[in-house]
Formats: sequence, C-alpha cells, structure tokens
Amino acid sequence: MDLRIKSFDEYKEKYEQSVKDPKGFWDEIAQKFTWQKPYDEVLDWNFTDPDVKWFINGKLNITENILDANLEKRGNKLALIWEPNDPRERFVRWTYRELYEKVNQFANALKNQGIQKGDVVAIYMPMIPELTVAVLACVRIGAIHSVVFAGFSAHALADRINDAKAKMVITADGQNRGHKQIPLKRVVNEAVQNCDSIETVIVYDRVGWSPEMKEGRDIWWHDAIEGMGSDCEPEQMDSEDILFILYTSGSTGKPKGVVHTIGGYMVYAAYSFQNVFQYEESDIYWCTADVGWITGHSYIIYGPLLSGATTMMFEGVPTYPDPGRFWQICDKHGVNQFYTAPTAIRALMAHGEDHVISYSLDSLKVLGTVGEPINEEAWRWYYIHVGKEKCPIVDTWWQTETGGIMISGLGEHTPQKPAHAGYPLPGIQPVLLDQDGNEITENGKEGLLCMKYPWPSILRTTYGDHERCKLTYFSTFKDHYFTGDGAKRDENGMYRIIGRVDDVINVSGHRFGTAEIEEAINSNDKVVESAVVGYPHEVKGQGIYAYVVCDNIPEDKESARGEIVETVVEEIGKIAKPEKIQFVSALPKTRSGKIMRRILRKIAEGEPDKLGDTSTLLDPDVVEEIVEGAL
Ligand code: WT7
Repeated sequence: MDLRIKSFDEYKEKYEQSVKDPKGFWDEIAQKFTWQKPYDEVLDWNFTDPDVKWFINGKLNITENILDANLEKRGNKLALIWEPNDPRERFVRWTYRELYEKVNQFANALKNQGIQKGDVVAIYMPMIPELTVAVLACVRIGAIHSVVFAGFSAHALADRINDAKAKMVITADGQNRGHKQIPLKRVVNEAVQNCDSIETVIVYDRVGWSPEMKEGRDIWWHDAIEGMGSDCEPEQMDSEDILFILYTSGSTGKPKGVVHTIGGYMVYAAYSFQNVFQYEESDIYWCTADVGWITGHSYIIYGPLLSGATTMMFEGVPTYPDPGRFWQICDKHGVNQFYTAPTAIRALMAHGEDHVISYSLDSLKVLGTVGEPINEEAWRWYYIHVGKEKCPIVDTWWQTETGGIMISGLGEHTPQKPAHAGYPLPGIQPVLLDQDGNEITENGKEGLLCMKYPWPSILRTTYGDHERCKLTYFSTFKDHYFTGDGAKRDENGMYRIIGRVDDVINVSGHRFGTAEIEEAINSNDKVVESAVVGYPHEVKGQGIYAYVVCDNIPEDKESARGEIVETVVEEIGKIAKPEKIQFVSALPKTRSGKIMRRILRKIAEGEPDKLGDTSTLLDPDVVEEIVEGAL
C-alpha cells in the first residue's frame, strides 16, 4: 500500500484536492485498507457538540491491516528490530510472521484471563518488544489499551487506571534505563492497592527479579501464554469504536484521557507516516520516542506496521553507555529514517560533536524532530553532524489530540527552513485566528493556531467527560478546533510554531499543566499555596519554576526544596521535578484573588524589568520581594 506523494507539485495538487473535496480525497485513501465491511459514508461532523465520525459503519480490525495483510506479502520481512539498553545484550529481530504469532498468542492469553471486547487494559511497560505485542493483542480482541508511560509514579498510574476503570495492568518486573534499573512491578503493586477495577496483573520477566506477586491476581507473562495457540480470530470492530485512551495534561485539572477511534486513526497514521518519512520498502525506520507517548503509538507502532515497514525500538537512553549511542545504533542497523526530539539533540550537542563525527551515518535519508520548537542552533547541528548536510529535516508539529503529524515537511520533497514546521499535510486545514476569533489571512503574521475542518485522526472525546473535550478544544472559537499553540506563517505560507499560549509547560517534549504540578506541590503539608510557570531551559526547552508559599519561609531552604521535589515525584513522577523552587511570603494577586501569572512568568524568564501593568495588584510589595529573591 503505497500512499506516498513524490514531488512538491504533487503535494500542491493533492493539497488542493483535499480542500476542495475532503471526503473524496480520504475515500480514495481509505479504500486501500482492509475492511471486513465497507463504510457507508466517509464523514459526518460538527465542531459544536463536537461530534466527528469517519468511515461510518465500516467494520474492521486494525491488526488485520498490520498482521494478516502483511503476512501474505511480507511474511519474512522484518517487522520489528529491538535494541536493548545494554549494547552487549543480543538485539531482537522479528519478521511479520513472528509478530503475527506472538500477538495472536498473547491475544488468546488475554481472552483466557477474562478480557473481552470493550474492556480497558492499562499497559505500564518498559520499551521492550512485548510492549508492542501487548498493544496489538488488545486490539486483536477489541480491548481498549491505555498505555501509561513507565516513568509515571504509582499515584499517577492509579489515577489513570481509575479514570478508565481498567480491568488489567500489563507490566514487567523491572526496567533498564542506562546504569539504572527501575522496579516497575513494585510501582504497580502500590498503585493497584487503590484500584478496585483491576482483576489481573500480567508481569513480563525483563530483569529477572522476584517481585511480590499477589495470588489470584498476578500472573507471569510466560505462564499466561503457556499452551495458547498462535491464531486468534480478529474481533469485528466498528470504525468509531475506541482504539485507545492516552492521558495528557491540559491547562486545568488532572490529565485527561484523549480518545482515538479505529478507522480514522488507522488511515491517518499510515498516510502521514509514509508521506512525512518517505518510507521505501526496504528501509529501516527508527523513532526514539517512548510508546508511553502519542509519538510512540503513531510512529513506532501503528504508522510503520500498517505500512509494512521495519520499525526499530530502543530500550535505553541516548547517553548510555556514551553519548554516541544513537549514532552507533544507526550504523549498526543501517537506519534510514531517524526521528527524535529537540531536547535529545540539545543534550547530545552539549557532549560535543566528537561523539557523532566518528560514525558514518551514511544510511540516513530523512531526519525528523517532534515535541517542541527546535531552535536554529540545534537544527543546524542535527543537519550538519547527523545528516551530513544531505538529509532533509522534517520538523513535525502535532499533538496527542491530533493523533498524527499535521504540519511538516514530506521527506525531501518540500522546502525546508530551520525552526519552521512548514506546510500542512493534505487534508489538514490550519488557520491563524486573532484573540477575537477573526481569521488572519495575510502571511507574515502571528496568531492562534486552529483547525477549521476535521481530519481522520482528530480526538473524538476525552474519556468519560465529553463536556471537557468541548470546553478545552471547541469552545474558545466557534466551529474551530483550538490547538493551544501560537504560530506564525511566513511570506511563503510556511508555519513556525511558537509554543503554547495556555498554562501548559513543555519540559523535554513532555507536557504538564501548571495546575497539575501546583496540586502536587500543595499536597505537601508545609505548603499553603503555589504557582508554577515555565522558563526557558537550554536543554529541556522549558523548565519548571515554582513559587511556593509556606506558613513561614523555611529556614533550611535546601531540605524544604528536597521535600517538595519528593512530593512531586510521588504524585506525578521524576519527569515533573521543578527545577527551581522559590519560597515567597505571598503570590501576586489581583483584587479579585487571581494569581498574576504573567508577572511570575516574566520574573522566571529573568525579565523583571518587563512586568507590564501591575496597577491591578492587591499588594505590589510582594512583587518587589519576589524579584529580589528570584533564582
Ligand atoms: C504540543 C503537543 C505530538 C508528539 C509529541 C508531543 C508541541 C509538538 C512540535 C513541533 C513545535 C511542537 C506543541 C503541541 N509541539 N511538536 N514540531 N514544533 N512545537 O505531543 O504531548 O501532545 O504535546 O507539543 O506545543 O501543542 P503532546
């Protein structure tokens, strides 16, 4: 199934067609997939409720498109290459036939453990090939997967399990991350104490530990698959049945479960994968993301495997055993497309180019980046030292909610410009709006990035709370999906993403809501209240800066900081650690009691001379104190 556009002219032609006749455009693409029963209608939608349906009444199972379809044509082709944390350990290579067998066998095991169509299964696993097996086995039997990044704490995991009422957790005894080993099963044990819905825990033996196993609830993976056959009838699913839930942070409240449905997500994951990366049949493709994030869902598992590609999965970290690991892996496996995050590039840049220039990297054809704006310096380093000035860089802008890449270059076919994501993919209709919701039609202007027409992999709802979905994405501007990002369109119509305009902080490409971190900080007994903002961080893009009010300003600030960090690690996980904690006697508030974050942001950014209008403040002295004590 070749879905590729092969020139800039063809892109322009397809783009135009996709705007004039979106239904016809997507119909032609969707027909290339395997449907058990064809859909009656391509699309029905409104952004008011919102209610979006694609490929209506179509019946299918995605795994038939991934496994059965490729079994015939590519049974002996590699589906998956897995590179372990420790380079001395043997890597794994599975053909499409092997993947088929493993997924079907585990699907039978899930059924045997009582999982049925529509049940939610939480997956809390390291980056090992069995994670892909677990995901696809759920899909085979019509269960909904909810993958939780294995760096989240027991609290965060329990919240996600409870929100979705998951019946099962699939995990491993432990996880290898560079020099460290992390006890995943122990975290799961702690989490599920507070989860009534959990009936079964399946544990993969990755590190050879003997964690506590609860009789009647916990079972080892190898015991669960014992005696299970390697054929499992795919469950017939509706195009609009839920494929998965993935939790992500917003500007308010707890993380929400973004819901993606089967038909539209499938079509868009494959279409965007093939076009952005210009994948060719014998290529080896590698995305360094974790499957715990949407990037891993769409561009390690679904997009590549739907396309019959060879997808690589890496267990470890970029700096272990040394900062040349990524490039060593590229040379070792002959990687052709490489997809990573700006934060990883900046971190490796800081180790110097000696670690990269010793590798040939001549298999590379396309480089990708995702997750946050890439600064020009990092872009050039990537282009020169990794791509050897011959590989195009695709700067892919998208979101958990969009399911797939929305604005990006298409391999070498589209013009590239550092720090610019570029043009929208066919079928994607971005607009820039001003604060009042008027469309900015001229180029060279900045505005709020919205979408005025649905695309197949748009989120359908937020799990269990449709109103929240409506409020967050479809109420700011009538008849538009609002991304939360600001963007600028240059003279040639290329988009540059500026960053979030809401209270979302992007730390190393990981998304946090300020409210969520504040809630975690406030759960510490000593804390009265707090306010969190992002500030520019050289490697992470943004760092977390917390202003904290305690009963009294602590005398031993270092240990008080340590305690607060500990609370955040317990509530959310290590990835949400505040970089800077400033103890203040009060927060700057308006007379109506609203925290003036604008001021706190300016102080955190080191620009206290640009605070702007402070006349509405209840107590202006507070600002002076905060500026003086700024970190
Ligand atoms: C937010 C979405 C989508 C996969 C990873 C993150 C920012 C994402 C880019 C890019 C500038 C980017 C946006 C977006 N973002 N890609 N290429 N250039 N910013 O997914 O956690 O849902 O976060 O990440 O601010 O809204 P996510």
